[in-house]
Amino acid sequence: MKILVTGGAGYIGSHTVVELLSAQYQVVVVDNLSNSSEKSLDRVAQITGKKVPFYKTDILDREGLNRIFEQEKPDAVIHFAGLKAVGESVQKPWEYYQNNIAGTLILVDVMRQHGVKNIIFSSSATVYGNPAVIPITEECPKGQCTNPYGWTKSMLEQILSDIWYADREWNVILLRYFNPIGAHKSGLIGENPNGIPNNLMPYITQVAVGKREELGVFGNDYDTPDGTGVRDYIHVVDLANGHVKALEKIKDNSGLKIYNLGTGKGYSVLDIVKNFEEATGVKIPYSIKPRRAGDIATCYSDASLAEKELGWTAQFGIKEMCEDSWRWQKNNPNGFED
Ligand code: NAD
Ligand code: UD1
Repeated sequence: MKILVTGGAGYIGSHTVVELLSAQYQVVVVDNLSNSSEKSLDRVAQITGKKVPFYKTDILDREGLNRIFEQEKPDAVIHFAGLKAVGESVQKPWEYYQNNIAGTLILVDVMRQHGVKNIIFSSSATVYGNPAVIPITEECPKGQCTNPYGWTKSMLEQILSDIWYADREWNVILLRYFNPIGAHKSGLIGENPNGIPNNLMPYITQVAVGKREELGVFGNDYDTPDGTGVRDYIHVVDLANGHVKALEKIKDNSGLKIYNLGTGKGYSVLDIVKNFEEATGVKIPYSIKPRRAGDIATCYSDASLAEKELGWTAQFGIKEMCEDSWRWQKNNPNGFED
């Protein structure tokens, strides 16, 4: 099978390309490099010994996509391409709706014109809003998102579901990621945020490498064991393998499916600091700051549906997540720049 991966030069995309190649899939990558570097794909080649065809193309470019589909004739699409900075999405809602929603509408239209009706979509636990039940199952109702980024995920889930309702030749798998961290064991690929990181683990690794002075912990008065926010951190390689399992599912004409990809375990901010220090021997100075707008106290998955239906469970624990995040950051203090 040939898989077209949009956003394949990015963080989760590049790790997924590695796992797809290891599972003997043919892979083609489409990415406009708005938040990534083509060097990630050189590193993928270094890891796997395989160079994937790469098209520097925007998913909003219908003609460009048409040419790629004509030439490559993919069987399925894994769709990672999208803008993902929560704070920026509040400042630039139009750009987020245009890129994520209009981009996906064009991608899906080109797909159906070429008779390609298999898609795996990167969704997020953010669609649950402030979750009605913990641990969160897929039955948990979707909630109110606190930012345009979250709404693009929620709306795209609805759009892709409606496309399946109308045309049952489609297979649509919506994967709701919890909090991906970690990096490939080789230390050759990993997360490379632009500017000041918004997310916890990249911030911690930048403190560890000396780029930032201290971590600000956003609130210690939540209703959690130590008062700091609790999340379900998942190793990016486990997440990548969830996509390989989802592809196997699609081969049986799975129709519309939704799966949580998480570990089912919750760790607080201070748990992460402590685990990082233990795993790496590097001290992380921190101070308590006010709560961050839009944050919730607790979010972790019930991931048993993915286990039952995809035969997938997370293999890596928090120690490996910390070690691997650190190896990547330490070996590449400036990401893919020399
Ligand atoms: P990333 O920014 O590293 O990867 C996204 C890639 O898409 C980038 O390489 C970017 O250049 C590309 N891209 C963006 N807009 C494009 C366009 N119009 N045309 C072509 N390429 C485009 O982000 P990531 O962390 O790897 O996330 C991948 C997907 O998973 C995103 O859709 C994201 O919203 C979703 N997701 C991420 C997380 C997370 O915590 N990282 C959590 C839940 C969901
Ligand atoms: C964020 C996004 C969410 C997205 C998810 C995964 C927000 C409001 N939500 O969620 O939409 O799907 O990332 O990419 O941004 N923290 C600190 N100090 C920091 C950074 C984070 O204390 O410098 C805390 C947060 O308050 C939270 C936890 O660490 O309790 C995890 O934060 P983060 O990594 O940003 O992920 P989420 O908030 O879960």
